[in-house]
Amino acid sequence: MSVSAIGYLRIASTDTQAWMNFGCNVLGLMEAPREDAGGARFLRMDDHPFRFMIEPGDSDGLLAAGLEFPDAAAWQATLDRLAAAGHEFTQGSEDEAARRCVKAFATTDDPAGNTLELYWGRRLDYQPLVSPAGVPAFVTTWKQTGDLGFGHAVLPAPDIEAATTYYTEIIGTGLTDILSIPGMDGMKVHFMHANNPRQHSVALFSGPHPLGVVHIMLEVENMDEVGRAMDRAKAAGVHTLASLGRHVNDNMCSVYILAPGGIAVEYGYDGLLIDWENHACTYSDEGDLWGHEYDFPGVNE
Ligand SMILES: [Fe+2]
Repeated sequence: MSVSAIGYLRIASTDTQAWMNFGCNVLGLMEAPREDAGGARFLRMDDHPFRFMIEPGDSDGLLAAGLEFPDAAAWQATLDRLAAAGHEFTQGSEDEAARRCVKAFATTDDPAGNTLELYWGRRLDYQPLVSPAGVPAFVTTWKQTGDLGFGHAVLPAPDIEAATTYYTEIIGTGLTDILSIPGMDGMKVHFMHANNPRQHSVALFSGPHPLGVVHIMLEVENMDEVGRAMDRAKAAGVHTLASLGRHVNDNMCSVYILAPGGIAVEYGYDGLLIDWENHACTYSDEGDLWGHEYDFPGVNE
C-alpha cells in the first residue's frame, strides 16, 4: 500500500455559497478564507489547510480526489508504475501545487474516468478547528499515529474489476472487503484501504453516477455529534437520503444527507480501525446491521 490517505476533495458547485452554508452550518466544517484566482472556497476539519475545495462550476459533482503519498520516492514510484502500464498523467505546476497546499502532485484518470490527484508533502498550518456549529473535532487522526484522511469516498466504476486492479496494483490501495449489494442484482462495492487504520478510504461502486461520486463520508467522535448534525440538517431543510443505521463492514453508525447539488454525505461515528498485518479480505451480501433506510428524492413522491 503506497497511498497514505485520501487527503482532500475538489467539488464543483453551481452555488458555492449554498455549499459553504451547508458545509459550515450543517456539517460543522470551518471556512478557511483564502484568495483564489478560480473563485474556490475552502473548508477545513483539522490541521490540514483544507479538506474540501468548493469550486464554481456549470454543474455539480466531484472534480477530483486527492490521494496522499508518504514521500517523494513513493509518489514517483507510483508515477513510474502508471507510465509503465500505459496510463497518462500530468504533473501539476508549482502554482497548482501551491493552490492545493502540497509539494507536488500529478493528475490522472482511473479506468472509470474518475480524476485523481496524486500528491505528497501537504503543508499543515496547525490552525485549530473552530467549528461554526460547535463540532469539537472530526476523526482524522488516530492516537498520534498519523493521518486517517478526511473520511472516505465511493467512486463509480462500472467496470469494477479493471478499476480495482488499477487501484490495488498501480496506485497502491488494499482491498478490504467486497459487498454484493442486497436488492441490486449483481451490483457490488469494493472497499479499499490506504496505509492507515481506517477500514476504507476509497470504495468503488459497479455502476455509473451522474455526480462522479456515490457518497463521501465524514466522521465525528460520538453519537451526540451525529444527532446534533441530524438536528441541524432537519432545521436547514436538508434532505435525509438514508436514516440512521450501522454498516456491517466499517461499523460506521451514520446518516446520509444531500449537499446542495446532490452529493450524498455520510455523517457518522464509531468507524472501525484495522491492523492490516492481520487482515484478510472478506465478502458479504449484507450492507447494514440495522437502519439506513433510503429515501431517494422524487422516487416516492
Ligand atoms: Fe460510506
